[in-house]
Amino acid sequence: NLNEVVVIGSCMIDFVGYAPRLPKPGETIHGTEFVTNFGGKGANQCVAAAKLGINASLIARVGDDSWGEKYISNLIKNEVDTSYVFKTEGERTGIAQICVSEDGENQIVIIAGANKRLSIEDIEEASECIKTAKVLILQLETSVDVAVAAMRLCQGVSILNGAPFTTEYDHSLLELPTIFCVNEHEASQFTQLPVTNKMEAETAASKLISLGCRSVLITLGQDGAVYAEKRTGNIFYVETPKVESVDSTGAGDAFIGALAYLLVRRKELPIEEMVQNACIVAADSVTRKGTQPSFPDEQILEKLGI
Ligand code: RIB
Ligand code: NA
Repeated sequence: NLNEVVVIGSCMIDFVGYAPRLPKPGETIHGTEFVTNFGGKGANQCVAAAKLGINASLIARVGDDSWGEKYISNLIKNEVDTSYVFKTEGERTGIAQICVSEDGENQIVIIAGANKRLSIEDIEEASECIKTAKVLILQLETSVDVAVAAMRLCQGVSILNGAPFTTEYDHSLLELPTIFCVNEHEASQFTQLPVTNKMEAETAASKLISLGCRSVLITLGQDGAVYAEKRTGNIFYVETPKVESVDSTGAGDAFIGALAYLLVRRKELPIEEMVQNACIVAADSVTRKGTQPSFPDEQILEKLGI
């Protein structure tokens, strides 16, 4: 099947400055290095899955500037199917301004550009591809309406990464996905509860279930992840291996890409083991700079022993 994993989402050019620490509001500090990378949560998640060896297809919009061309070449290099990566006349490719501190923390501002033009019509054009996907992945760097329309077409498993947080949604955004996946910050925003540790994450996950989610995954960075499921009442916590954090940008994307891979190719595994292994893949990506280039390839599957 050519459509194992289908991702609907963003392509961004990441402008990354590395600095000893994140600046405070109004403050100027000296950085140490500047790089441009291919990023955006949608493309990152798609590349993360593709690098593990799955057939992955991206539905997205880039601009008609030179970055758009370059982005499509990058996707092809990573063996992503770009049949539905559209160029957008008169729009710029999305960009992300990123600061990464020495301890691997980051801060991101995105200017969505062409990503905002991904439309319901685009979803209709790609409907066959969406309907036949085993796993469909979505985020909120493109419009909420697009995510909702696509989830309605989905006949497989859908993973909605509720990032970045938005207030512009109704209950269907939480009810439609098979798995609603957020980090600690977004979990806090969606529930209006503090989420700073495992216990608070479990409380937030239960609240998201009561708000309509079928299952919830909250990633806690170095502290692992919490999973909760409505149907079975199952709730569990997994730890993540301790690693030297070099750059945590895109770790959540590596996690989702790996989870999608496992849901398709290792579907006999219990969900707990899938989440555990996705944490290992994400932790591995944190030990290298950047997003897509730092995501592990198929060789890591041997290390996972699955
Ligand atoms: O999740 C990381 C990504 O978020 C970056 O690549 C940046 O483009 C932002 O979209
Ligand atoms: Na990384």
